[in-house]
Amino acid sequence: MASASRATPDKLPAWQTLKQHAEELKGVHLKTLFGSDQSRWSNFTRQVAGLTLDLSKQRWDDDTLEHLLALAHDAGVPGAIDSLLSGKRVNVSENRPALHTALRLPADATLNVEGEDIVAGVHESLAQMERLVCRLHAGQWRGATGKPIRHVVNLGVGGSDLGPLMVTHALADCRPDDIHPVEVHFASTMDGSQLADYLSRFNPETTIFVLSSKSFTTIDTLSNANTARDWLLGRLTQQGDFVSTPAVSAELIVRQHFIGVSASPQKMSEWGIAPDHQLTFWEWVGGRYSLWGTIGLPIALVIGMDHFRELLAGAHAMDRHFREAPMEDNLPVLLALAGIWNVNFLDIRAHSILPYDGRLEYFAAYLEQLEMESNGKSVTRQGQAVSYSTCPVLWGQLGPNAQHAFYQLLHQGTQPVVCDFIAPLKRYDEVEDPDTRRHLKSQHRLALANCFAQSRVLMLGDDALEDDGPRPEHKRYRGNQPSTTVLLDKLTPHSLGALIALYEHKVFVQAVIWDINPFDQWGVELGKQIATDTQAIIDGEGDVSRMDASSRGLIEAFWAAEQN
Ligand code: F6P
Repeated sequence: MASASRATPDKLPAWQTLKQHAEELKGVHLKTLFGSDQSRWSNFTRQVAGLTLDLSKQRWDDDTLEHLLALAHDAGVPGAIDSLLSGKRVNVSENRPALHTALRLPADATLNVEGEDIVAGVHESLAQMERLVCRLHAGQWRGATGKPIRHVVNLGVGGSDLGPLMVTHALADCRPDDIHPVEVHFASTMDGSQLADYLSRFNPETTIFVLSSKSFTTIDTLSNANTARDWLLGRLTQQGDFVSTPAVSAELIVRQHFIGVSASPQKMSEWGIAPDHQLTFWEWVGGRYSLWGTIGLPIALVIGMDHFRELLAGAHAMDRHFREAPMEDNLPVLLALAGIWNVNFLDIRAHSILPYDGRLEYFAAYLEQLEMESNGKSVTRQGQAVSYSTCPVLWGQLGPNAQHAFYQLLHQGTQPVVCDFIAPLKRYDEVEDPDTRRHLKSQHRLALANCFAQSRVLMLGDDALEDDGPRPEHKRYRGNQPSTTVLLDKLTPHSLGALIALYEHKVFVQAVIWDINPFDQWGVELGKQIATDTQAIIDGEGDVSRMDASSRGLIEAFWAAEQN
């Protein structure tokens, strides 16, 4: 990262230049920018690793980009990229590196971190994961009663859920053909509703659970894990109609029905996970950056290890680009600068993520954690309050569905919003039946047409209509909403890996410029602590009268409901 004594970004000369420049550009409509520069597409579009990044619909011009690049230089972005990738302790509040990029280094690479080459360990952990995947795919992993496993339920939350959930959904059609059919499911919510559904439907004899938790202390995951363990013990230790074989020991059940993935082998052992069913990783992998290693077990189970390695290779291709490309051609840097421009100079603090491909259904949820948990910060790395905005509010949904939900606000509301449109260019070539392929390809064209049309209308407003006669105010579109479009040549493990790494690095570059630490999340700790106190009070073990009137009222309403 930039040196600890660096000036905050708002004190850098380029920041002041950008402030002034923004005053000049604020009144200029996007359609004017396009009208006066025929080369915007080539000027503001870059390609790498199967991705095309179109930044031409941002409300900026060549001068803006020049000033933003100067800001990035002054803020120390090139040095910070080097520090990140070489394993310096960039996570200052926890005094450790953030080395998710090491998880996707090829086996023949070396990376010496504080005197130790960490690449061999990374590949050993992948090999260990592969052994478990192979046993499950071969139908060799048996439940306590001797049956092969059919359902694998990942119990995890945040980074131990969202990355694997998003990727398994996106790449479900990469499933290898010749494997024992193992279905992967996810349960994250502490209220138990997802888990309850699975428990009501699955056969305990053929179901295993993956306890995914970096810390192995997260109550959401542990409460689901305890419910799952009791369910298994209750069903498998007594002979009933449901279970076809004699009762088995509790020890065997826990051994055969739980895999643990954590940075704490000790806590996994204390919970009861058998040592050879423990997958580990390192404290230097942040939770929301952890899908690339053993937390990616559900991904490897769905797409197979070969595809998993392609996912890593795609991310690594983006890492290399991030390290080697000059800043003016560097996709993560450019994407980050567009965000800085919108938030800090155009005062646009809402950001919507809109994929036009159903397979990317969970991409927005994944980015919500990646961006807002990383950069939702208000003190500098030196602990001073910032005097400028940082991470915008980010949300999203599949674009086609959002068109029928919140696009009204994008087109005619009062909030400026920047949108990221994401879509693959090619789809459905592999569908065997020609008629179905033709129909599906035409649906893909329909989705792309809508994607391109929406960014155009958001940009041009009424001017998107060539014949724009007089219209009442309620039918007018002002346009001028900036957007980015990311096109994938095709959605594959490789291109998805590159896409995720693009956003990871964008978040990092923004953090460098804002002078904040993207790798901690202290803001979630107080809520956890107060929830523990509140639970004691709900359970009758604390003093409700100490609480504020609203919290007391809510608890008393719950107690009253329990009496009925
Ligand atoms: O509470 C926030 C958080 O720590 C996230 O950063 C993390 O991804 C999630 O909880 C889950 O944590 P763990 O993997 O340790 O269970």
